[in-house]
Amino acid sequence: MTVLSSITQNKISDIAKSAYDQAKKSSTYREARSRLREGFEAVRDNSEATEREKGLANLGLVCGHRASSDQIAAHIRYRMIKTIISPPPSLSDQPHLSSYLGLDLRQGCRTPLQTRIGMEVNPYSNSDLTIAHKERIGDGVCHTYKVTLESGETAVWKPVKGEPADRKRKYIPPKTGAEREAAASYIADWIGCWAPKAVYVTVKEKNSFLHWKKSQEKGALIQWIDGETASELKVEPSDIRQYLPQKYEELSLFDHIIGNTDRHKGNWMIGNGDVIPIDHGYAFPEENLKQSKNYNFADETLPLSEKSKLKLQNLMDHKTEISQTLIPFIGDKAVHAMWERVAKMLETGAASPWWHT
Ligand SMILES: Nc1ncnc2c1ncn2[C@@H]1O[C@H](COP(=O)(O)OP(=O)(O)OP(=O)(O)O)[C@@H](O)[C@H]1O
Ligand SMILES: [Mg+2]
Repeated sequence: MTVLSSITQNKISDIAKSAYDQAKKSSTYREARSRLREGFEAVRDNSEATEREKGLANLGLVCGHRASSDQIAAHIRYRMIKTIISPPPSLSDQPHLSSYLGLDLRQGCRTPLQTRIGMEVNPYSNSDLTIAHKERIGDGVCHTYKVTLESGETAVWKPVKGEPADRKRKYIPPKTGAEREAAASYIADWIGCWAPKAVYVTVKEKNSFLHWKKSQEKGALIQWIDGETASELKVEPSDIRQYLPQKYEELSLFDHIIGNTDRHKGNWMIGNGDVIPIDHGYAFPEENLKQSKNYNFADETLPLSEKSKLKLQNLMDHKTEISQTLIPFIGDKAVHAMWERVAKMLETGAASPWWHT
């Protein structure tokens, strides 16, 4: 039975789910790969598919073709089709915002955003955030962990003490990655970009060697994304530009605002319904000067849509509030440099390489 003949309802998620289920039942990777290809073609050619769904279907097709074996192609396509099936959470969805990492972000604060970034100084800083289990992930210079909190939730933990003490970027002070992660998450919410929520907190750790003695450390606690990196899935920034142009613009705008110097293919993921930027420890430079070669979405000029310009204007209209929130975390020089980038984009109507040469 082909994917198409098994469809009973003309709903995109049903088409994708049907292809996924049939691929799971396949006896070979080759067969799974073909079943998924049929599913993507059905999604791509369906007039009711959204830009996101069509784009992901095209990505699944093109990246599957690039794979060196049927097994890898099937794996890549599984990931893409899973991403079509699970829609991204809506940023205006209050239950989502309030429940991430088990904290009620609305309590006692004017906006959820301020609560999050203000955690270091608000009552949550002494809340019972305890890491029950952790395992190292990634092979970067920072120590990054997948953790299970005592509450049972999964998150990413990037402790300050795991950050290198030497300066990895000329205009970014060392040991400030955790604050920068939280600041990036705050900005992502202002512009409606779906990035993992990050908070700068103190956590306790159950240390088995010390008989449950709880140690305390500071760092960034980051929402877990069920997905894989662009590098693992063989996706290129140019694919996003071609197949998901709105997403490309969103990521470009985000990276320009935060002045990200570390957007390589290990630092954006496909998962949880979308293309998702991660790893913002090397953002918010204190000077707008070029300092790395990792600018996946920010190394060429991109004219901005009216929607993006409105987002920039909205930031500018809240300059005092945003600055007051960010300065205690990343300092006034980094905040000043951010406004310089925002002003330049508003003036030119484009996102172009943000660093002075
Ligand atoms: N929020 C997340 N959800 C799921 N996996 C994640 C998340 N953040 C990071 N990872 C995984 O962990 C890896 C390392 O994380 P991250 O890139 O944030 O740290 P890093 O050690 O600074 O990396 P690098 O120096 O290589 O850029 C990522 O490449 C990704 O595979
Ligand atoms: Mg990384």
